[in-house]
Amino acid sequence: MSWLWLVLGYLFGSTPTGFVVVRLVRGEDIRRHGSGNIGATNVGRVMGKPWAVAVALFDMIKGGLAIALARACAVDDPRILALVGVAAVCGHNFPFWLRFKGGKGVATSFGVLFFLNPPSALIGGALWYAVMRLSRYVSLASMVSLSAVPLLLALFEAPGAYVGAAVALALLTIVRHRANIGRLRAGTESKVGKK
Ligand code: G3P
Repeated sequence: MSWLWLVLGYLFGSTPTGFVVVRLVRGEDIRRHGSGNIGATNVGRVMGKPWAVAVALFDMIKGGLAIALARACAVDDPRILALVGVAAVCGHNFPFWLRFKGGKGVATSFGVLFFLNPPSALIGGALWYAVMRLSRYVSLASMVSLSAVPLLLALFEAPGAYVGAAVALALLTIVRHRANIGRLRAGTESKVGKK
């Protein structure tokens, strides 16, 4: 029955928050603006910081929701919980509702990691903030911080399945940031606070 939790994780993760919010509030398709991404950073470009924060929070919560529900139903196998988290991020990145073309999974990954191991996710989040403030590149902050989380999980002696999931999420994040990496190398990536 554990596959049911994976399906639930995918379904929660596939809720395209940024897309829905911009469509409902502005009547526009966020995929035609900024980076074209449906994530919080791009929502911020279109609708401002408060909306970006709201979308980021919702995307984090949806990532951990199925993990919390599974735990509440006495599922405590770290391998299942880790896979449910990865399924949620896959839902965000490849949502059925948007023909499998979704976001980059940063907020959802942090939500998953917070529900799996709060200290690692909080330190990772602090690293995200520091890199973002120093470089003003959200994409760079996302890749650096999520790449550090597997090491943090190992330091906190988290279950191996959590470390494995964090490695998978970091790799997925880097793959999903291919276009950003190209822009960073070319010096054309947009910076926070600049149009
Ligand atoms: O969360 C995604 C972020 O790392 C980059 O977003 O819109 O600049 O591609 P964006």
